[in-house]
Order: sequence, then C-alpha cells, then structure tokens
Amino acid sequence: MNDLGSMRQTERLTSDEPGLARAAEILRRGGLVAFPTETVYGLGADATDAQAVAGIYAAKERPSFNPLISHLGSFEAAQTQGIFDETARRLAEAFWPGPLTLVVPVAPTCTISDLARAGLDSVGLRVPAHPLAHALLQKTGRPVAAPSANRSGRVSPTDADHVLGDLDGRIDAVLDGGASQVGVESTIVACLGGTPRLLRPGGVPRDAIETLIGMKLESGEEGGKNPLAPGMLASHYAPRARVRLNAASVGADEAVLLFGAQPLEGVVTARTTLNLSKNGDLVEAAAHLFSYLRQLDASGAATIAVGPIPETGLGEAINDRLKRAAAER
Ligand code: TXA
Ligand code: MG
Repeated sequence: MNDLGSMRQTERLTSDEPGLARAAEILRRGGLVAFPTETVYGLGADATDAQAVAGIYAAKERPSFNPLISHLGSFEAAQTQGIFDETARRLAEAFWPGPLTLVVPVAPTCTISDLARAGLDSVGLRVPAHPLAHALLQKTGRPVAAPSANRSGRVSPTDADHVLGDLDGRIDAVLDGGASQVGVESTIVACLGGTPRLLRPGGVPRDAIETLIGMKLESGEEGGKNPLAPGMLASHYAPRARVRLNAASVGADEAVLLFGAQPLEGVVTARTTLNLSKNGDLVEAAAHLFSYLRQLDASGAATIAVGPIPETGLGEAINDRLKRAAAER
C-alpha cells in the first residue's frame, strides 16, 4: 500500500442480505466500507484495527488525526467501550439509536484502537438509527470507526453517488442505502465528569438534550466555568515526556521513536527504541503512532527523541500530531 492509500476497485453493494454480508466481510478483514447513517454517509473501518483506521485517513487525505466516532449496534455494546455516568446513560437511553455521539472515558475493556481515539483516554461513541447501519454493525460485531465519507475539505455525502464522486477507487465498497435523512452530522456531547459539554451541534437539538437532563450544556470551548480534570479536555494526546523532533542523534537516557531504515547516532545505547515502520510505510507508521508514544512514555524517559519522518502522504498528519505532542505545556 502506498502512502496515499492504494487504488482499489470500489464495489457498489446493494441494500440486501448479500450486500450487507459482503460489507461486513470487508470490514472484518480490515477494508474500508462507506455506509449510510441517518446523518451522513460514514467511511467505516474496524475501529479495533489501527492499520484499517489508518486507511481511513489515507483515503480521505486528512492532514491531521482527529479522534473518530466509533459506531456500535447497541448501547450494551457501547458500554464495553466507554464508561457511562448517570447523565451519559440517560442521554444514551433517550437518544440512541440516533444522531447523538457521546464522548466518555474509555472503559478498561475498550478494544477501540489508539489511532481511532487519537491517543486520548476518552472515546466518541454512537449507535446510529439507520436500519442498514444497524444491520451492518450487528453483522460486523465490532465497533466501526467512521468519519463522513468525503475527501478532506469537501462536503459530507448524503448519498452513494456523492461518496463515489469523492472516493471511487480509494475505498473497497459503498453500501448504497439511498439518501440520508438528517443531512447534518450527529450532535456531540462530552460526559467526562462535571457538566456535560456540547462539542458539536448536530442532528439532536441542544434544547432536547437540556430538557432531558434538566441543565444547560457547557459550550465546547475550553476554559468554561466548570473545567474538567486536567487533561480530560485536551483535544490532543500529550505524553508526559518532553518530545524532541527531527533528532539527528540520541542520548543514552532518551527513548527513541524511529521511522524507516535510517539509523540515528547513539540509538544502539538508547533506553528504549521503537520503529513506526521499518520499511518506511507511512500507513503502518500511523497505525502505530499513538500506542508507541504511550509505550515510550511509560518507559519513564524524560525525553522522547523522534527521528525525521517524511512530510508526504500520511506523514503530514503524523508530523502534525508529533508537533502538538512536542509543544511546550
Ligand atoms: O453524524 C456523524 O457523526 C458522522 C456519521 C458518519 O456518523 N460521523 C462523523 O464522524 O462526523 P467524525 O469522525 O468526523 O467526527 C469526529 C469528531 C471529532 O472531530 C471530535 O469533535 C469528536 O468527533 N470526537 C470523537 N472522539 C472524541 C474524543 N475522544 N474526544 C473529543 N472529541 C471527540
Ligand atoms: Mg466530516
């Protein structure tokens, strides 16, 4: 696979039993399937498979890794992935299945990959109402990460032709379920302790949520009057260790993150070393990025030295996240 996502023959699948079975099979073997939800079409991949999730970013040509929403067939399945406090539970019971996404702390039993969560300790979960999406999720039996099925910078697609207009030849299949009903993305509410926050307005109106829970939602902006625990609100993963980019050589007390075959001076004696992709594959590198940063951070090193990573393809998103991790805090 090249760094922009390989060219693929995109299958157009019909909304019947064989179409659904094929879509589930492709997802379960790590492929990319666009599917209808009641909001917009999503570009789905097995959320537990970081390599498959990296394929989403490659196909969309997204220049940075945002945390993705993982879609589930039921509230019960969602509860194995995230921790629902009283408010989150009430919202899930009232609005799922439907156009609401809940951002909650990850559960110890969470199987969603670090890349789909962009390395965060929280997870975005949604149980969509569209019958085809529901059937596909039940058949797949895994959480499915899915941003809107458009190329970066284009509008969200509400039918299969829009999807193919943007992504034909870049994804494995589109499940054709006609036009999406809602047409705007799901409302995103973070329930991470304290007052819930509206992170994105969408298909479920703010009023309906506030009426149900009997309180006003905080706005998504940071610095609201009821700040959450430090780190909980951060929209970017930040390791405890200092991150040093474009290292040409490394010290013995540093942890090292490499890419490709190029060795760095001093690397043999470094404390710990991980290579994002020994053969220089940027999709593989993206799949490893957050879990490797966490492993290196856990080594206890004060500094993580990062070797040079090309700026092509997914390299742009990888470097974007590394720069944020390296920013002074
Ligand atoms: O309607 C929708 O929500 C569509 C359909 C396909 O379901 N999906 C969608 O997904 O719009 P996506 O992946 O583009 O939404 C990502 C947004 C992020 O930009 C962020 O705002 C929020 O979801 N998000 C997800 N996980 C989060 C987390 N752990 N912490 C904070 N925000 C999170
Ligand atoms: Mg989008």
